[in-house]
Amino acid sequence: TPRVFSGIQPSGGLTLGNYLGAMKRFVQMQDEGRFETIYCMVDLHAITVWQDPAALTANTRELAAFFMAAGIDPEKSILFNQARVPEHAQLAWIFNCVARMGWMKRMTQWKDKAGKNAENASLGLFGYPALMAADILIYHATHVPVGDDQKQHLELTRDVAIKFNHDFGVDFFPITEPVIEGEATRVMSLRDGSKKMSKSDPSDASRINMGDDADAIAQKIRKARTDPEPLPSEAEGLAERPEAKNLVSIYAALSDRTIAEVMPEIGGKPFSEFKPMLADLAVDKLSPISAEMRRLTADPAEIDRTLARGAERAREIAAPILQRTYEIVGLLT
Ligand code: TYM
Repeated sequence: TPRVFSGIQPSGGLTLGNYLGAMKRFVQMQDEGRFETIYCMVDLHAITVWQDPAALTANTRELAAFFMAAGIDPEKSILFNQARVPEHAQLAWIFNCVARMGWMKRMTQWKDKAGKNAENASLGLFGYPALMAADILIYHATHVPVGDDQKQHLELTRDVAIKFNHDFGVDFFPITEPVIEGEATRVMSLRDGSKKMSKSDPSDASRINMGDDADAIAQKIRKARTDPEPLPSEAEGLAERPEAKNLVSIYAALSDRTIAEVMPEIGGKPFSEFKPMLADLAVDKLSPISAEMRRLTADPAEIDRTLARGAERAREIAAPILQRTYEIVGLLT
């Protein structure tokens, strides 16, 4: 069976972008039943930049609660945190020796995150994509659902698999398919239609957080930046209107429809009418998730047991693949 892997960093501050761009697709792929689904809290990625230890632990549990509250069933999917499956880091070391410095230097996320101060960035941040390739390939995953911002990392994952197979003359690692689908692969900031919605934006008004209450959600949507025109009647009319397009995409994704499918309902409406509709829909869809997250995080021991069980199942797949990799490389084990 085709196998899905994806991960989210437990670095705190989950946004509507994480939900619509990633989590909703994770749940759909699990429920389709056509895939074996493996989902991971990538704590080792999170520590490529400083994380307060107590906050990291709490954020990992909160992220686990987000997965489950959004519909990931730890019986149907394998759900775990990366640090508990040492094969990720072990394969990443091998990939550190396969991937090239030049590949890493070209990553736009490296350039954005390290910025002008690259000399002072952690070595882990530079090698981040090699660990990501290991996450995916340690399970021989075939499909990786992600938001648009991860596309370049997935291309690098393919390059690592191709180079490993070529260097060792094997056909061992699969060439993974990115799954970047739906109307919300790139949810934009509510304050600036040219910037991605992100937990690291200094303005809290730029994003909807998974923990926001109904009032905060309604207020952020009411204040979201737009142009003064009413919505167009056809989807094509959104082309040059990034802020309007973003809000319509969010509306479509939240209601499990395409933009074309929602246009008959909302086309031609002024924002004074559309924004409250969007706010109501967002509150409807998000508040049950945050309520369930609060319920689950009240019992951290239960979350820890679930993740430990998930890690055991993950290791059953990962250990033989690492073993075979070591043999291919010629490492005595
Ligand atoms: P992370 O933790 O930054 O984000 C998790 C997922 O959310 C998506 N996302 C968005 N999608 C649409 N619009 C947005 N504004 C938005 N913001 C975030 C991301 O695309 C991602 O799918 N490197 C990854 C984590 C990772 C991973 C992996 C992913 C580590 N190993 C292996 C897949 C496979 C990351 O930092 O995602």
